[in-house]
Amino acid sequence: MQYKRCGRSGLKLPAISLGLWHNFGGVDVLEDSRAMILHAFDLGITHFDLANNYGPPPGSAEETFGRILQSDLAAYRDELVISTKAGYLMWPGPYGEWGSRKYLLASLDQSLRRMGLDYVDVFYHHRPDPDTPIAETISALDQIVRSGKALYVGISSYTAEQTREAAAILKSLGTRCLIHQPRYSMFDRWIEESLLGVLNEEGIGCIVFSPLAQGLLTDKYLNGIPADSRAAKPHGFLRPEQITDDKIIKVRRLREIAGARGQRLSQMALAWVLRHPEVTSALIGASRLGHIDDAVGAIQNVSFSREELQSIEQILAR
Ligand SMILES: NC(=O)c1ccc[n+]([C@@H]2O[C@H](COP(=O)([O-])OP(=O)(O)OC[C@H]3O[C@@H](n4cnc5c(N)ncnc54)[C@H](OP(=O)(O)O)[C@@H]3O)[C@@H](O)[C@H]2O)c1
Repeated sequence: MQYKRCGRSGLKLPAISLGLWHNFGGVDVLEDSRAMILHAFDLGITHFDLANNYGPPPGSAEETFGRILQSDLAAYRDELVISTKAGYLMWPGPYGEWGSRKYLLASLDQSLRRMGLDYVDVFYHHRPDPDTPIAETISALDQIVRSGKALYVGISSYTAEQTREAAAILKSLGTRCLIHQPRYSMFDRWIEESLLGVLNEEGIGCIVFSPLAQGLLTDKYLNGIPADSRAAKPHGFLRPEQITDDKIIKVRRLREIAGARGQRLSQMALAWVLRHPEVTSALIGASRLGHIDDAVGAIQNVSFSREELQSIEQILAR
């Protein structure tokens, strides 16, 4: 495993991190979740990413992770970087989502209880809140660091401008914005326009989520929708209508370039997001052990020739 410095902080993260959004909830088989987490850790994946609402049902991924921590990983707490988030709907009423101080502090306390932890390593605001003053949300993050319940804080899906503002408020309070968690893959490139530049200037790390576009940038959907895939599950966030002919044509062409590099498409897709120096880690999901092996194997070759990058651009532009 390669460990990369997270922005200009002291913290290093593995180039591949594992997220527990799908396949680690109360509806999933605990032994499968346990096997994937332990396999990832054995391969040097020291960073596990959660959120209050991951499941289903919401909260159950944190409970699963807490059980595995207790049964298998308690002795390794100091070798792990555990993150969680609040921002999406978690409980009824006006205090169960978005970005108020009231919500963020209560949600983190609930997450710590579910995981059986005294602190998380990173706590994120999960999505920008159009109505709460950003200063309230960000000062709650500062308070969370000062309380010792998170060692670092980050933001997710904030625009470039919102990121600059959040970083400035945190800096004025004496706390660093450690990391930004945006969506980024060959099929969703919004961060290239200005967010990466802001992260570079501010010295903020970047961990990109859904680098495989939830499984689209793999061989999985080449011959239809497999019954055990995310797109086939009623609670999966990848919907069948997102698997368009246009995307599958691109996937087939991209696969040829990956093959010529001696990689699977999933591996090339991960290498491609990691080519930016600003990207600290690719945050993957998995439903079986082989997905984790594939992802870790991607690190063997993360450099691209100019011709390869041009060919990829041409395919994506079509
Ligand atoms: N901050 C946010 O708002 C936000 C939003 C979304 C996600 N996230 C974080 O990012 C993490 C990763 O997101 P993601 O799960 O969408 O990432 P992803 O890596 O793009 O997709 C993972 C899915 O792709 C499929 N897959 C992975 N490797 C494969 C392979 N080698 N061959 C075939 N299929 C493969 C599996 O789908 P199947 O399950 O179908 O097998 C797997 O569940 C989440 O767990 C979460 O921690 C954050």
